[in-house]
Amino acid sequence: MIEVDRLSKKYGSLVAVDNISFQVNKGEILGFLGPNGAGKSTTMKMLSCFITPTSGTARIGGKDILTESMAVREILGYLPESAPSYKSMTVLEFLVFIAETRGFSGQEKSNRVERIIELTTLNSARFQTIDTLSKGFRQRVGFAQALIHDPPVLILDEPTDGLDPNQKQEVRALIRKMAEEKAIILSTHILEEMEAVCTRAVIINHGRIVADGSPQTLLSHSKMFNTVTVKLTDNLEATTIESLRKLDGINDVKTFAPPRPEDPFTVQIFPNRKQDILGQVKDCLKTNNIEISEIYREKGFMDEVFRNLTLGG
Ligand SMILES: Nc1ncnc2c1ncn2[C@@H]1O[C@H](COP(=O)(O)OP(=O)(O)OP(=O)(O)O)[C@@H](O)[C@H]1O
Ligand SMILES: [Mg+2]
Repeated sequence: MIEVDRLSKKYGSLVAVDNISFQVNKGEILGFLGPNGAGKSTTMKMLSCFITPTSGTARIGGKDILTESMAVREILGYLPESAPSYKSMTVLEFLVFIAETRGFSGQEKSNRVERIIELTTLNSARFQTIDTLSKGFRQRVGFAQALIHDPPVLILDEPTDGLDPNQKQEVRALIRKMAEEKAIILSTHILEEMEAVCTRAVIINHGRIVADGSPQTLLSHSKMFNTVTVKLTDNLEATTIESLRKLDGINDVKTFAPPRPEDPFTVQIFPNRKQDILGQVKDCLKTNNIEISEIYREKGFMDEVFRNLTLGG
């Protein structure tokens, strides 16, 4: 549904987006991540035909953003970084205006406007002018205008920015619900949001793609990936630690005293090639008759992965 083909954007000597290519299929929710100024919004503006690329192109639903921009706009919903700006219109007037611009009239138009007001919880603000809305409500209006024509492709630039925790959850649920039928790109700075919502992530830094994969794959780059953490009421004896160390494929064993008297002891066992060692560790502790209160594999830390990919690059 979305094919980005060697897309670049220069502002004078600054290369904001540097020759990026990726694809998004129907059913995918692509998380677009990167530090401030990495080029996320610039990419999204090019994909939604708001600015022209310096070189390269993209196809949305098979239509080229350079040569078929009207067709692209028809099948695309775009939530810009800063929400809509017709400040003197009321929410209702604005959404009616957008519906008309999208070519709807009569009952169909009213139905769509009402459905979207309900979906984005805007009813209490329908007669308020946009300039008097709080940040989160303005964001919801932006979301509503992007969805009103139920487009098969959605480009959402920080869709949950400024929303309260309840609304964040609702918008995430809504995005997940719509995903089956659509191809979605969303940018976010919230790594947990990406993990919770996205099927895939593309990380960019200084305009270049530095990672492209499922959240799972990205997490596997974490130093802690597949480390086994064990919580115990008593400290491990030196002999048990020794037998853990001697297991095949174990790199290191670290023990941590409880930070507070009521906390458990913690032992971490590191595999030498991030392989799965949970079974081995469990067997070893059982053989040594160790009573454990908790044991699990670390899934890795996305913030560490993000830092490593984007710092100093
Ligand atoms: N119109 C413009 N003129 C000159 N430089 C621009 C323009 N728009 C963006 N830039 C620059 O391009 C780079 C990429 O900006 P962009 O807005 O795409 O970043 P971003 O990844 O969306 O960042 P953020 O996380 O802060 O939203 C930045 O260095 C920015 O200053
Ligand atoms: Mg941005």
